[in-house]
Amino acid sequence: MSNPSGQTASPGNAPAHTTTIKPTDLRGILQYVPRFQGQIFVIAIDGSIVADDNFGNLLVDIAVLRSLGIKVVLVHGIGHQLQELSALRGIPISNADGTGVTDAATLDLAIRASSRVAHLIMEGLTGSLLKAVITNAVRAVPVGIIKGVDQQLTGKVDRIDKELLNALIERQVVPLVSPVAFGPDGKSLRINSDLLAAEMAEALQATKIIYLAPNAGLEIEGDVTHEISVDALRSLVAEHPEKIADSSRSKAAHAIKAIETGTPRVHIVDGRVFDGLLNEIFSNEGVGSLVYGNDYQQIRKASRRDVRLIYNLTRNAVKREELINRTQKEIEKNIDQYFVFEVDEAVIACATLLYYADQPDVAEVGSVYVLPFYHNRGIGKKMVDYACLQAKERGVKRVLALSTQSFGFFTNVCGFQETTKETLPEARLKLYDDSGRNARVLFKILS
Ligand SMILES: CC(C)(COP(=O)(O)OP(=O)(O)OC[C@H]1O[C@@H](n2cnc3c(N)ncnc32)[C@H](O)[C@@H]1OP(=O)(O)O)[C@@H](O)C(=O)NCCC(=O)NCCS
Repeated sequence: MSNPSGQTASPGNAPAHTTTIKPTDLRGILQYVPRFQGQIFVIAIDGSIVADDNFGNLLVDIAVLRSLGIKVVLVHGIGHQLQELSALRGIPISNADGTGVTDAATLDLAIRASSRVAHLIMEGLTGSLLKAVITNAVRAVPVGIIKGVDQQLTGKVDRIDKELLNALIERQVVPLVSPVAFGPDGKSLRINSDLLAAEMAEALQATKIIYLAPNAGLEIEGDVTHEISVDALRSLVAEHPEKIADSSRSKAAHAIKAIETGTPRVHIVDGRVFDGLLNEIFSNEGVGSLVYGNDYQQIRKASRRDVRLIYNLTRNAVKREELINRTQKEIEKNIDQYFVFEVDEAVIACATLLYYADQPDVAEVGSVYVLPFYHNRGIGKKMVDYACLQAKERGVKRVLALSTQSFGFFTNVCGFQETTKETLPEARLKLYDDSGRNARVLFKILS
């Protein structure tokens, strides 16, 4: 099978032809090494990906991650193989993905499918010179009766043996976790593998889950969404579930669950694409979809009770003409534009984000102020990035900033560029001229 790079995939082994790695590629990857070294990534492989021609390459990629000091836990699915077995043997199944009822016949096929898939993965890992172990680290209990229907042999995670898994990880062994787990009595129960990955990540405090799926990522309104915040995805699932493609629903739901239980980032990557996994992790613009948690949990919208705090906070910067003067009344009138950064419930930074009614694709970030004691800890950048993310979620394409003394902060740290005042929206240009501050005009395109 030929892949987009023209390489030949051979399951379980390295590609038959290897491309030359440029030193610049290595430099690019090296910048991520200190960031990811020692972290745990849970990689969840759909059953259909194990059956795909690209599977062998994926195992080589996982070996690359291991060699860079990233700790990997593998969870696999079996839906594809379960359906195949059912057709082959003419035995109907009650449910394929472990989210519905699992009757005895389905569980029997699931155990066979799971053993086969786990064995294939072990073959591949061995071919990539990785040590691996199939574990009984997941204890399950029956899901029970849901909406009046007994789910029979479908289980949910009761307990994860973190000690066992961590001991394996520390000894450079890749734990392989199957979606058929064991009840307290030792009997098997079927668990959905997307859920299992989320539970595993929570228990092991993984920094990422990477779902290797048989589609290009999260499909929302017919397009793959490359980046979405958990808040935006949660609202979408609650208010417009029909906008999410059927094939993406389980991943969306479990990405939300994982992030809500402490895993900062969830990637959904096409497991059929050569180099997809490495590109997703080692490039700034991933190829799949990233659902990210709130890196900005110390940031919140300001409310009226913050007016005085913001006023007092920014006084000194106003005196030094770093910020434009605003009275308490003006701050109160525009309080909806403000957001603040809290440390131990004290407001230590603020900023504004302003939209233009006549130009919905433009927004302006302003009044960025960080208490001097907290300078150079990334808070200023976080405030500006947060404003840009908020604006992007509203469909804004270009964010403006006007600065008299922090030009370098916006350009060097936040990625803004200088432009001329003529590019300002008409109403803003008038205010600009009237203010007499002669601030430099900057902008950032939101991609
Ligand atoms: C500008 C300001 C918001 C930066 O906040 P911060 O939390 O220290 O910023 P970060 O920690 O994210 O970034 C620090 C970096 O910005 C650089 N920086 C900060 N102020 C700068 C300035 N005025 N010009 C050039 N670079 C500046 C720092 O040198 C540091 O660079 P480094 O990462 O290369 O070491 C803060 O200095 C401030 O409140 N200043 C007074 C108010 C102001 O001027 N606001 C901007 C007007 S909208």
